[in-house]
Amino acid sequence: MWRSWGTKVKDMGTSVKKAVIPVAGFGTRFLPVTRSVPKNMLPVYDRPSVHYCVEEAAAAGIEEVVFVVSLNQEAIPRYFEKQIELESALAARGNAAALDEARHISSLATISCVAQTEQLGLGHAVLMAREAIGDEPFAVLLPDEVIWAERPTIGEMIEARGREGAFVIAVQRVPDEAVPNLGIVEPAPGSDDTQTQRLVGMVEKPPLEDAPSNLAIIGRYILGHEIFDTLERVQPGALGEIQLTDAIAAHLEEPGVYGYEAEGERFDVGTPLGMLKASVTAALRREDVGAELREWLADAVE
Ligand code: G1P
Repeated sequence: MWRSWGTKVKDMGTSVKKAVIPVAGFGTRFLPVTRSVPKNMLPVYDRPSVHYCVEEAAAAGIEEVVFVVSLNQEAIPRYFEKQIELESALAARGNAAALDEARHISSLATISCVAQTEQLGLGHAVLMAREAIGDEPFAVLLPDEVIWAERPTIGEMIEARGREGAFVIAVQRVPDEAVPNLGIVEPAPGSDDTQTQRLVGMVEKPPLEDAPSNLAIIGRYILGHEIFDTLERVQPGALGEIQLTDAIAAHLEEPGVYGYEAEGERFDVGTPLGMLKASVTAALRREDVGAELREWLADAVE
């Protein structure tokens, strides 16, 4: 099921107002285009992959987005700024639909940026947002993961945090071959059938034989400010990087960590093939181009 959340989904998430979206990084899997274009500005059909993440957060009631950026990534915050000349041009041409969309994009959230000057890992990237977040609970969304669902995944997680008063991370079952590339969680014994499960372990990028389950972390987190002290002292882990997973694992008992098994359709748009699949899926579902693309694809695969 796919839909774009035009506006905030009614009655969703009220307790978490800020989100961290890490976008620094070289985008090596997308070279050579990432020599000059930030990875998360590459399009899923006609909008950059980072658009979906910000829209998901806004639909869940999040009001402020903090991007963790590296050099040459001005294009990302600029995409979400109000563009007065563009709006005047669209108004002059009477293009009401495009004008509405332009206004929608620049009103999604208040955007700010913090710099990550060294690429020391995801945990380090989140730590860079410490001052911007302060002492509130906050969301983290990784824009390499696009998740299309009836209700925004991060909003469902905010509700789960309200119920459990703990950290919440989104998980989904993945095939064996994906396990060594992802964070993998271990639910408490006996909690297998529930959508929100207390976790007793988690490990970053384990070899398949050491993995405690096939439930993978899919780039959506609700955390408390306690995580920042932990990130200050956590040692480099998998790949020699400061891993967010390791810092979260230090909180399994206090305040506790829950896995929320997300229902949405997930695309890893951090790889060219995943991006292409997401683009084709998005285009097939559009009224303006879906039918033509379906026909063309049928011919193309013959
Ligand atoms: C990060 C997390 C990992 C998670 C993944 C989801 O890894 O560290 O736990 O499963 O995102 O995409 P990365 O893809 O940055 O290596």
